[in-house]
Amino acid sequence: MLIFLVGFMGCGKSYTARNLSSMLSIKQIDMDKAIEEQEGITVKEIFQQHGESYFRELERAYLKNLDPADDIIIATGGGAPCFFDNIGLMKQKGLVIWLNRSKDIALAQLLKGIDKRPLLAGMTIDQVDAFYSQKLEERRPFYQQAHICVGDASVEEVAMMIKAYRQKSIS
Ligand code: S3P
Repeated sequence: MLIFLVGFMGCGKSYTARNLSSMLSIKQIDMDKAIEEQEGITVKEIFQQHGESYFRELERAYLKNLDPADDIIIATGGGAPCFFDNIGLMKQKGLVIWLNRSKDIALAQLLKGIDKRPLLAGMTIDQVDAFYSQKLEERRPFYQQAHICVGDASVEEVAMMIKAYRQKSIS
């Protein structure tokens, strides 16, 4: 089964994917990293050199190419479910989990990574705070289509939810 982790930048998708991977012995992929390897440049450079819509096309193509028969945990980029019908495509191909972390936790992480994230380039702390609130509301209708929504649950708790979901879909 493909397991997609979705959610806003800073919600810990990559961290959770790595930990779930060792806990459940399922391979994991970080979509941003996979796209960076494929293009030979960073996501920030893709945005700078080719623009955001080119990056969104790359995300779309990446999702289209995934084989639903594979067992992989995929940490998606924060915007991936919010373009084209990517959320529908992910739901068709596997289990989609929204890491809906509380604002304090997500913001603290976001502030650490301002330099890496093209959408936050040059922002002050207050601007990141305002961006977070506004963008999350824009994206909520996409994220909330996920099969499972987890708040500040631990990786162990997310692993239990996945096991329960898989059990249910087998029986
Ligand atoms: C983006 C989130 C980033 C990355 C790109 C755009 C977004 O991934 O895909 O910078 O639109 O929210 P993370 O959520 O892993 O930071």
